Amino acid sequence: MLRRSLLALVPLIGSALSQSASGYTDSGNGFQFTGITDPVHSVTYGVVFPPLATSGANPTEFIGEIVAPIAAEWVGLSLGGAMLQDLLLVAWPNGNDIVSSTRYATAYTGAATLTTLPSTTVNATHWKWVFRCEGCTSWTGGGSIPVDGEGVLAWAFSSVGVDDPSDPESTFNEHTDFGFFGIDYSTAHNANYDAYLNGNAGTPTGPTTTITTSTPTSTPTGPTAPAVAYDYIVVGAGPGGIITADRLSEAGKKVLLLERGGPSTGETGGTYIAPWAPGTNLTKFDIPGLFESLFTDSNDFWWCKDVTVFAGCLVGGGTSVNGALYWYPTTSDFSTDVGWPSSWTNHQPYTDMLTARLPSTDQPSTDGQRYLEQSEAVVAQLLGGQGYSQTTINGNPNWKDHVYGFSAFDFLNGKRGGPVATYLQTALARQNFTFKQYTMVSNVVRNGAQITGVQTNDTSLGPNGVVPLTPNGRVVLSGGSLGTPRILIQSGIGPQDMISLVQANTAAASNLPPSNQFINLPVGMNVMDNPSINLVFTHPSIDAYDNWADVWTDPRPADAAQYLENQSGVFAGASPKLNFWRAYGSPDGRTRYAQGTVRPGAASVNTTLPYNASQMFTITVYLSTGITSRGRVGIDAALRAAPIVNPWLVDPVDKQVLLQALNDVVSNIGTVNGLTMITPDKGMTLEEYGEPLPIILDADVSGVNGCVFGDGVSGCL
Ligand SMILES: Cc1cc2nc3c(=O)[nH]c(=O)nc-3n(C[C@H](O)[C@H](O)[C@H](O)COP(=O)(O)OP(=O)(O)OC[C@H]3O[C@@H](n4cnc5c(N)ncnc54)[C@H](O)[C@@H]3O)c2cc1C
Ligand SMILES: *[C@@H]1O[C@H](CO)[C@@H](O)[C@H](O)[C@H]1NC(C)=O
Ligand SMILES: *[C@@H]1O[C@H](CO)[C@@H](O)[C@H](O)[C@H]1NC(C)=O
Ligand SMILES: *[C@@H]1O[C@H](CO)[C@@H](O)[C@H](O)[C@H]1NC(C)=O
Ligand SMILES: *[C@@H]1O[C@H](CO)[C@@H](O)[C@H](O)[C@H]1NC(C)=O
Ligand SMILES: *[C@@H]1O[C@H](CO)[C@@H](O)[C@H](O)[C@H]1NC(C)=O
Ligand SMILES: *[C@@H]1O[C@H](CO)[C@@H](O)[C@H](O)[C@H]1NC(C)=O
Ligand SMILES: *[C@@H]1O[C@H](CO)[C@@H](O)[C@H](O)[C@H]1NC(C)=O
Repeated sequence: MLRRSLLALVPLIGSALSQSASGYTDSGNGFQFTGITDPVHSVTYGVVFPPLATSGANPTEFIGEIVAPIAAEWVGLSLGGAMLQDLLLVAWPNGNDIVSSTRYATAYTGAATLTTLPSTTVNATHWKWVFRCEGCTSWTGGGSIPVDGEGVLAWAFSSVGVDDPSDPESTFNEHTDFGFFGIDYSTAHNANYDAYLNGNAGTPTGPTTTITTSTPTSTPTGPTAPAVAYDYIVVGAGPGGIITADRLSEAGKKVLLLERGGPSTGETGGTYIAPWAPGTNLTKFDIPGLFESLFTDSNDFWWCKDVTVFAGCLVGGGTSVNGALYWYPTTSDFSTDVGWPSSWTNHQPYTDMLTARLPSTDQPSTDGQRYLEQSEAVVAQLLGGQGYSQTTINGNPNWKDHVYGFSAFDFLNGKRGGPVATYLQTALARQNFTFKQYTMVSNVVRNGAQITGVQTNDTSLGPNGVVPLTPNGRVVLSGGSLGTPRILIQSGIGPQDMISLVQANTAAASNLPPSNQFINLPVGMNVMDNPSINLVFTHPSIDAYDNWADVWTDPRPADAAQYLENQSGVFAGASPKLNFWRAYGSPDGRTRYAQGTVRPGAASVNTTLPYNASQMFTITVYLSTGITSRGRVGIDAALRAAPIVNPWLVDPVDKQVLLQALNDVVSNIGTVNGLTMITPDKGMTLEEYGEPLPIILDADVSGVNGCVFGDGVSGCL
């Protein structure tokens, strides 16, 4: 009655080895072994071989040991690194004895002789099996141990006992965990081998601290540390990762949050302090009024340099560099119509928890005043003529048709707030939450479909930089809409054309699992984004704030002083001043939403007519929720994360609706005294302006730039 056995497993050999063996001396018997201690279950596996023959065939035996806590009901060792077509050794305690057998799929019929050696013990906390394995360096089926080279050993662990502990051929359930490690067998030979067989340690043969790696990988080698295993490893400290990690640690899980970038706001240790704020911790990321300067600073270390569109690579991810526009979700965002399970539709209790921790404000200045609001007044008049009503945007989240209001933000106390100032701070206060910055995750480490850890570039986190998971642990990838697909693809998960690009890169290829473990999933397919078009106007009432040009180096002195003293004034707010929404029905029966953002200044102007730049402002019109166009993201040959098929206005209905929305916004422009549209100007129709798609791309924070893919729910600048 063989139940699902140890052997019903995919092959394990891979180049992304989570651990590699090193020399150690068993203080109990004095034998010098080469092996590992699995950090999750604290089981030690070691082997030692007789000296290599100086002539003739090598000896075909070795001495091994398994030292396991009593919780290990049985433990297996696969000599070829796979569970199929490899000789397997299985052992468990039975009273004060160790029962063992060789296996090969079921029972092994070839010649391999196991002898339990005298230093084998079972005590209250551990069992230790020290054994001689004769005829074990090769086996029927063609496998062998490369005794003078590098190989792989796999282990299997079970917390569930075998069916009949007294029977060496007992059946048992599939292991509850398994893993594998690389070993350089050439370093695992010992001149005292014969003494060991007689139970003597002999004279130790020098240091056994050599650390070896099994295969070259792209990760730095060097000193490895005992790895700590986590219940959850969360990759990426953007809003997704921070909130996930906070809630998981709150639930009592042991959580590691990994972030490739470094500090952002002063609270996180950020040091990019505004030149006009010496002696404070007010960084570019703290001061809302410095938002526009993120796009004009030559020292732009915060943008991910290996992502071809704007993406924040620092603590907080996009929320440390974005416009901080913050819309509470609408109920329709969670409807079954858009694909959510019905159990998700009642979002209100959860939304309430969110807004209790992170309230929005449409009055970010600490003195309760609004600043630089001229463009709001002009556009309110324009939209009023189109049947729009004013509301407090987050007071009526479900009202998204013919409605406008003062822009709402997740600023707190006149500074950038968001998840970094809230959720990250509560997580950091918990003992079972660990946060590591400047740590790049290249891929997950997996055995088939089971993820066992993540590959980082930091060897202090684990052997070769691999951080392991606890047995039922999970990895949450939250590296952003472009960062996460890249991690998956580099893990051999995704379309083959993408994985092929990884295979073509020597360093990254070494971290891929073998090709029979690739998992072909549509990673990066079907992505959406919100295209946008900037309309630029002038009006005599507007203060364009010099288009925010000098806010970093040479701000208006009174505004800087007011902010420094009171965290109030112009600098307590970002550039957006008003947002509006309008719903559009279409011939295809879908409802699409146009969204608008209004701000003083303009990113680019294209007109042959004269205009007064001190009076200009921009209305950015987006096509938002309901959009049907889709594209694709992935990686390029340099392994940069990139859009592969642009997702903008592929569906002609999307384009028709966006053009309609643009026309509607300016339909009554003549009714607002002094209002002039300068881009597009009188010489160009809106259709012509919208026609060449590059116009969508060249604006500073619009289209793919501002609205990271898939961001239809939260809206974007
Ligand atoms: C310029 C700009 C303006 C925006 N304006 C607004 C706005 O006003 N309002 C709004 O709601 N939204 C806005 N957005 C969008 C919003 O910021 C994003 O939707 C949001 O940040 C996405 O969150 P995320 O957690 O999924 O990913 P991200 O915020 O991108 O975070 C991903 C994190 O993972 C890290 N990471 C990635 N790969 C790895 C790796 N391999 N190893 C370790 N770490 C990794 C990154 O460094 C980053 O910190 C804007 C975005 C941009 C770029
Ligand atoms: C039990 O056995 C383990 C493994 O050999 C050993 O490390 C430990 O010291 C032993 N405990 C006692 C109390 O002897
Ligand atoms: C994690 O931290 C929380 C809060 O401090 C605590 O209640 C919980 O017991 C901790 N869990 C573990 C596994 O340490
Ligand atoms: C700035 O931050 C550092 C580190 O948190 C802190 O020691 C220092 O007191 C802060 N300075 C000010 C002016 O708040
Ligand atoms: C890991 O990568 C990050 C992001 O590129 C980098 O800042 C850090 O220095 C790297 N760490 C090591 C140990 O190389
Ligand atoms: C700061 O606020 C106080 C109280 O409102 C006010 O008296 C003071 O003038 C403000 N400082 C600046 C520089 O605006
Ligand atoms: C400016 O507009 C003209 C049409 O009036 C167009 O041909 C040109 O490409 C535009 N330039 C830019 C930089 O957008
Ligand atoms: C341009 O606008 C500014 C601000 O409104 C105004 O002070 C200035 O006089 C205007 N310049 C011209 C040439 O009209």
